Amino acid sequence: MNGASPDPAAQAYADNVARNYGAPPITLVKGQGTVVWDAAGKRYLDFASGIAVNAVGHAHPHWVRRVSEQAGKLVHVSNLYRNEPQGELAGALVGRCGPGRVIFCNSGAEANEGLLKLARLHGVRKSGSEGACIGVVVAEKAFHGRTFGGMSATPQEKIQKGFRPLLTGFTAAPLNDLAAWDRAIDAQTTAAVLIETIQGEGGVNPADHAFLQGVERLCRARNVLFLIDEIQCGIGRTGRFFAYEHAGVRPDAIAMAKGLGGGFPIGAIWMASAHADLFQPGSHGTTFGGGPLAATAGLAVLEILEAEKLVEKVAERSVSWHARLRELVALRPDLVKEVRGAGYMVGVVLHVDPLPVVAALREAGLLSAPAGGVAVRLLPPLNASPEELAEAVAILRRVLGEWKAA
Ligand SMILES: Cc1ncc(COP(=O)(O)O)c(C=O)c1O
Repeated sequence: MNGASPDPAAQAYADNVARNYGAPPITLVKGQGTVVWDAAGKRYLDFASGIAVNAVGHAHPHWVRRVSEQAGKLVHVSNLYRNEPQGELAGALVGRCGPGRVIFCNSGAEANEGLLKLARLHGVRKSGSEGACIGVVVAEKAFHGRTFGGMSATPQEKIQKGFRPLLTGFTAAPLNDLAAWDRAIDAQTTAAVLIETIQGEGGVNPADHAFLQGVERLCRARNVLFLIDEIQCGIGRTGRFFAYEHAGVRPDAIAMAKGLGGGFPIGAIWMASAHADLFQPGSHGTTFGGGPLAATAGLAVLEILEAEKLVEKVAERSVSWHARLRELVALRPDLVKEVRGAGYMVGVVLHVDPLPVVAALREAGLLSAPAGGVAVRLLPPLNASPEELAEAVAILRRVLGEWKAA
C-alpha cells in the first residue's frame, strides 16, 4: 500500500510472492530515462538502475524499437540453430575483449558457473587428471552469485548459511593483499583465481591496479587462469568498457551480465583463444542463452553506448560528480566516512547502518542500493545527465544534512 490509493501488487506480494527478498517497499510501474514512478504516482531518480542493469536508462527509444522489432520477427530458437543477433553480439564482444570466443547465458550467476567450469577444464588440462587441480582463489567479501558454484565462490556467511556442503576447492584471500594471494595460489592445485574488479555487493571495494597486475603475474607464472567478474562493474559503468581496463591487465576469461541487456536478462562469458576450445560440443549449454531477443537487447545497448559516447561521458561526468559527493564527508563527518568507486559505481561509505539511509533517500525521491552493510551504493544509468547527478547530490545533502545521529 502506498499513500491513500490501494496497491494490488502490494497485496499480491504479501499473499503469494516468496519472502526471500523481504517485503519490497514500493511498486514501480513506469520508467523513462533516469526516472521511475511508483503505483501512487510518486517520482524517483533511479540511481539503483535495477542493481547496475539499466545501463541506458528506462525505455530508451532505440532499445525499445530494436527489441520490439525483434520480438515481432524471431524470439527464440534454442542453440540447435544459429540466430543472427547472437553471432553479431559475440563478434562485438570479441572486438572489445580480444581474440577468443563467447558463450551466452541468462544471468550473472550462470556466467560465473561458466567460468568455474572453465577452471575445472583447465585444471584437467594442467594436471592430466580430474580432481587434482580444482582450486579457485577468491577475494574476501566477494559476491559471485547464488547458484552452488556462485555461493561456493562467495566467502560470506550470510550467503552460504543453510546451503552447505558447497563445492570444495575455494580459498578466500584478502583483496589487495598480494602477499596473501601469492601464498594462496598454488602452482599444482590452483586452477584459477576469480576477482571482481570492483566488489559491488561487498561494499564497493575496488581492486588496486597494482594488485590486479600482481595477481595476473602470479597466474601467468603458475599456469593459473586469471578470471574476472565484470558482472556489476562492466559494460561502461566505470568509464571504460570493462573496469579491468583501468589496470591494463588481460584476463583469461570474463563474466558479464547485468548492463549488457539494458534490462533484458542476458549473461555471457568471453574466453581468450588459448582457452576457448576447452569447451567442446556437449560440454556446456543452456536453452535460452543468446536467444535472438536477448542478443538484440545486448546489441541495442552497445549501439547506444557507441552512438551517444556514453562510456566517455561517464568518465568525464563522474569527475565533478565524485568531487561533489566527497563534500558529503565534510558536511557530515560523523555520518560519512568516505566516497569510493569509479565512474557511475559509487559507494558513499557510512559510519552507520546504510539501510535506514537508503529508505530515507527513497522517501526523498532517490533510489539507491545498500552495499556490504557499510555503504549507500549509487549506480545511475550511464546516460544520467549532469543535472540528474546534481539532483541526486542535492537529495543526499538534504537527507544526510538533516540526519539525526542515533
Ligand atoms: C559481481 C557479481 N557477480 C555475480 C552476480 C550475480 O548475478 P545475478 O544476480 O545476475 O545472478 C552479481 C549480482 O549482483 C554481481 O554483482
